Amino acid sequence: MTETLAEAQNSAANDPARGHETIVVLDFGAQYSMLIARRVRELNTYCELIPWDSPAERVAGLDVRGYILSGGPSSVYDEDAPVAPQWVYDSGKPILGICYGMQLLAHQLGGKVGPGSEREFGPASITRSIATPLLEGLPDSVEVWMSHGDRLEALPPGFVSIAHSGNSPYAVMADPARGYYGLQFHPEVVHTPRGKDMLRNFVRDICHSEGTWTSGNFIDETVEAIRKQVGNGKVICGLSGGVDSAVAAALVHKAIGDQLICIFVDNGLLRSGEAEEVVTTFRRNMQINLIHVEAEDQFLTQLAEVTNPETKRIRIGNTFVRIFERESRAIEDARFLCQGTLYPDVIESGSHGKGAKVIKTHHNVGGLPADMKLGLVEPLRYLFKDEVRRIGEALGLPEEMVWRHPFPGPGLAIRCIGEVTKERLDILRRADLIVMDEIREAGLYRDIWQTFAVLTDTKTVGVQGDYRTYGYAVAIRAVVADDAMTADWARLPHELLARMSNRIVNEVHGINRVVYDITPKPPGTIEWE
Ligand code: XMP
Repeated sequence: MTETLAEAQNSAANDPARGHETIVVLDFGAQYSMLIARRVRELNTYCELIPWDSPAERVAGLDVRGYILSGGPSSVYDEDAPVAPQWVYDSGKPILGICYGMQLLAHQLGGKVGPGSEREFGPASITRSIATPLLEGLPDSVEVWMSHGDRLEALPPGFVSIAHSGNSPYAVMADPARGYYGLQFHPEVVHTPRGKDMLRNFVRDICHSEGTWTSGNFIDETVEAIRKQVGNGKVICGLSGGVDSAVAAALVHKAIGDQLICIFVDNGLLRSGEAEEVVTTFRRNMQINLIHVEAEDQFLTQLAEVTNPETKRIRIGNTFVRIFERESRAIEDARFLCQGTLYPDVIESGSHGKGAKVIKTHHNVGGLPADMKLGLVEPLRYLFKDEVRRIGEALGLPEEMVWRHPFPGPGLAIRCIGEVTKERLDILRRADLIVMDEIREAGLYRDIWQTFAVLTDTKTVGVQGDYRTYGYAVAIRAVVADDAMTADWARLPHELLARMSNRIVNEVHGINRVVYDITPKPPGTIEWE
């Protein structure tokens, strides 16, 4: 069966995720909605995030054990305020309302929500008054993270108050007979240290999900599903050197062996040693059919004298598509394209309802040439990054590949401010390698979201030995983040920064100054271009 792009995006009939006990999160637009789904998955229970106004058919075929109503920016009294659909209440399954989700439960079930005198935001302490399965195993008093405007003034019929905070008599409410619970605070964020226990209690003891969503099960079931989907067809897969395409390719290879052909377009914009690693890992170690296209010259010709960041991106993207198309058209009876699309890409590109903001159209999902008549194989489209890494480890991919920091498609071109030439790229690669070496040596690689060097187009005066020098300034960027939407600069130890700086100015000819970027995102972006 060859699916069109649209069909593949909208249907997941073959997806192994569909066979598992599932918690469904209805998304009312909170910035933390995706985090709720991740936290549930960490409990080994499959979880999907769907727009609040989804029809009941959206969950058909899922083994739904319970629902979570997320937080959101609305007030239940707003005109057109998003509400939980009746089919969720009619399902007879347990429901956990979080923040706005709790207010909705109250509002829709006959309680009273009133405007809070002021927005409550930040840490608070709640105290339990009645035993409840939701707070089982927790101390009577726990720290939580509040972030809400409206607050509950009267409970709906059937509910009791389980815990209160200084500001709110109903910090936790419950109707145990129906399995309905409400939390005025956010259990999914790290600032609610016992939040994970509350979610575990809900998922395990209230929804009775045992937790079968594990790497081993996922791999076995996905391999089966891929075989069923592609039959005897050939699958092509573009490798970028990043973790997502690597894990996707490894999974597909496990399923169909030689029917997979990988194409690695080496654009000459990768970090030191990365191209070799891709070839060694896939061709030599895993014995995957790999077409290695050495296209550095083509890319650099396209980039000659280009300094505008957007022009760089467009030229690189176009060149890549042209080469990839040429190579894939040359593969006889290629019928499928494998992509490392992840769940956040799917959600961000998806048809979310009025309550949520659509953030961006991800290139993996939206930007394929329309005339490429290939079915899509996207074995990771229901996974979060941390799950992909676990799968990569279980498949035996090298640690450096599985844990690699995110790297932008346009590569070093957008870290080489101004003109992109082979000479400048080599300077940048040498500086970048030192930054990576030192961060690894310090044992900080996994604590940091991204670390890299940026070659600026600023030349400054220096003195080395008895000589005046006039060389480029390099910037070091290191950020911590949960996702790339926001980030903060990493408080790297000064000694570490000193070692990086010393080594760069001594070992990299052409650089005589090193600066550290101390800009959070927002207002800065992670990349400089
Ligand atoms: P910014 O710089 O917008 O980056 O804070 C957020 C995350 O996205 C990566 N990034 C890109 N990834 N193509 C990509 O595939 C791009 O053009 C691109 N630009 C930025 C960046 O590395 C960070 O992880």
